[in-house]
Amino acid sequence: MADPGVFIVFEGIDGSGKSTHIKLLAEELRGRGLRVLETSEPSRDRIGTFIREYAERNGDRFTLETETLLFAADRYEHVKRVINPALERGMVVISDRYFYSSIAYQGATGIDLNWIREMNRFAPRPDLGVLLDILPEDSLQRVNDRAKTVFEVSDYLRKVREIYLCMVERGELVRVDADRPRDEVRADIQGLVDGLLESREAP
Ligand code: TYD
Repeated sequence: MADPGVFIVFEGIDGSGKSTHIKLLAEELRGRGLRVLETSEPSRDRIGTFIREYAERNGDRFTLETETLLFAADRYEHVKRVINPALERGMVVISDRYFYSSIAYQGATGIDLNWIREMNRFAPRPDLGVLLDILPEDSLQRVNDRAKTVFEVSDYLRKVREIYLCMVERGELVRVDADRPRDEVRADIQGLVDGLLESREAP
């Protein structure tokens, strides 16, 4: 039997407004009486916490493949311990980043995209994947106020965006132009989610 829950994922380069829009969407859905779980990757669990701390250090880096495997290991725990149980309870799960981040960010370092996909094959496909699309220039502007992590450097972000756009072409993600007033972006997202919920309600 298919999971009764609904799984929605937000992707985008840093500063694309994911956290704001996730909050707005979650509030709207809760207001309608739905049970919503907001979650994120890297997770708040042990491996995710290790990755966040590691990303803020400027010291010796692991090999890029090991970084990819760390994100995948964190995701495995996240899927088994957080996402799947919530979906089984019929919740709407909204994740800030998922395996598409590994394809885009680790793929942009030159790692074979098929290998990354293979390492993440365990990860269930979401019902909806939204790409909040902005230009890397705008991203850097928006994250300028805070310290950059090792995953946030400009040419690199251009490549990350390119890979994201390829995933839109493949039909894995739906692109929403996030370089617009907040309410317009919000309305587009709500339209996509309403379409999904209606299709799930159909007998
Ligand atoms: P995060 O703390 O979510 O940053 P932000 O709030 O700006 O989205 O993520 C930290 C960094 O980790 C982010 O720059 C993207 C990177 N990342 C990967 O490189 N691969 C992955 O699989 C994931 C989930 C994140």
